[in-house]
Amino acid sequence: TPAAQTNRLSSFGHIDWQQTLDDICTDILPHLGKGQVADYIPALASANPKAFGIAFSTIEGTTYTAGDWNTAFSIQSISKVFMLSVALAEEGEKLWRRVGREPSGSSFNSIVQLEREHGRPRNPFINAGALVVTDTVISHCGDEAGIDRLLAFLRESSGDQAIVVDEKIARSEAAYGDRNRALAYFMKSFGILREDVPITLETYFRQCAIEMSVANLSKAGLYLAAEGLCPISNRAVANDAHTNRVNAIMMLCGHYDRSGDFAYRVGLAGKSGVGGGIIAIIPGVGCVAVWSPPLNDAGNSYAGTLALEWFSHRTGVNLF
Ligand code: DON
Repeated sequence: TPAAQTNRLSSFGHIDWQQTLDDICTDILPHLGKGQVADYIPALASANPKAFGIAFSTIEGTTYTAGDWNTAFSIQSISKVFMLSVALAEEGEKLWRRVGREPSGSSFNSIVQLEREHGRPRNPFINAGALVVTDTVISHCGDEAGIDRLLAFLRESSGDQAIVVDEKIARSEAAYGDRNRALAYFMKSFGILREDVPITLETYFRQCAIEMSVANLSKAGLYLAAEGLCPISNRAVANDAHTNRVNAIMMLCGHYDRSGDFAYRVGLAGKSGVGGGIIAIIPGVGCVAVWSPPLNDAGNSYAGTLALEWFSHRTGVNLF
C-alpha cells in the first residue's frame, strides 16, 4: 500500500482559495494579449489571445475555478507528463536507459544534442524524449492502444469521460510535423525508438491534440500531489515513488530552457504546453492549472506563468 500522503492542506486553512483565483483573474487583465499565440498550425493560431482560465483542485477533491475555466483547449506538451506516468507504470526504471532526466538547456524541438548523445534525449519533456516515452507505451499496449491508454488515464484521473482528441488539430500536427518526424527517424537510427515510427508519431500528434479545460487538468494532476492516489476515482492511478520522480523532472525540465526561471518565479513543479496551458503541482495540497494562449519566446504561456507566480506567492504554497 502506498505511504499515506502527508496532508499539508490543513496548513493552508486560512487561505480563501476562491478569492485568490478571483483576484488573479482581475489583476491579470492588463497582461492578457502579451506574447505570441502559437501559429505553427492554423488551428492553434485562431485561439482567443484574451482568454484566461484558472482552476485549483485540492487533494480532498474540491475544485475552485475562475475565468474561462470550462473551455477545452489543446493540452499539447502537458500530455507528456501523463504519458510519462503511464510509461513508468509499464516499463519501470528501464525507461531511463533510453531517455535521460537532465535539463536540456535547449528549445523543446531541438535536434542538436541528439547526435552528440547517441540519440538518447536529455529528458522526457522535450519532444525527442516524449517520443521515446510514447514509443515505450506503444510497446506495452499495442499500436492503436497507446492513445487509448492515455485517454483512459486522463478520463479516470479527471472524472470526465468526455475527454477526446481534437482530430482537426491532430491532422494539423501531422501536416506540420516534419521536425518531429526528423527527431523520430534520427532516434530510430540509433536504436532508441523500437516501434514503427509512423505509429509513434501519429500517437504523439494525437496526444498533443487532446482537449481539456483547466478544471479537468487541475483534477487530472491531483495524483501527482497525492503520491499516486487519485481523489476523484479513489484509486491509485500511479505508483508513489514514480509520482515524486515525475514531479522532480517537471521542476527541472517542465519549461524547456526556461525551467530555471519558472522554478525561481513560481517555486513549484510545472509543465507547460504551446496551447497556453500550464499545470503546477503542490505536493500534499493540490494541483493548479492555468490557460492563456499567448506564449513567451520559450513557448510557455506568458500570462499563465505570471498567474502561477501570483498564486504561489499570495498563498504561500511555494515549495521553498
Ligand atoms: O510537438 C510539437 O511541436 C507540439 N505539438 C507540442 C509541443 C509543445 O507543446 C511544446 N511546448 N511548449
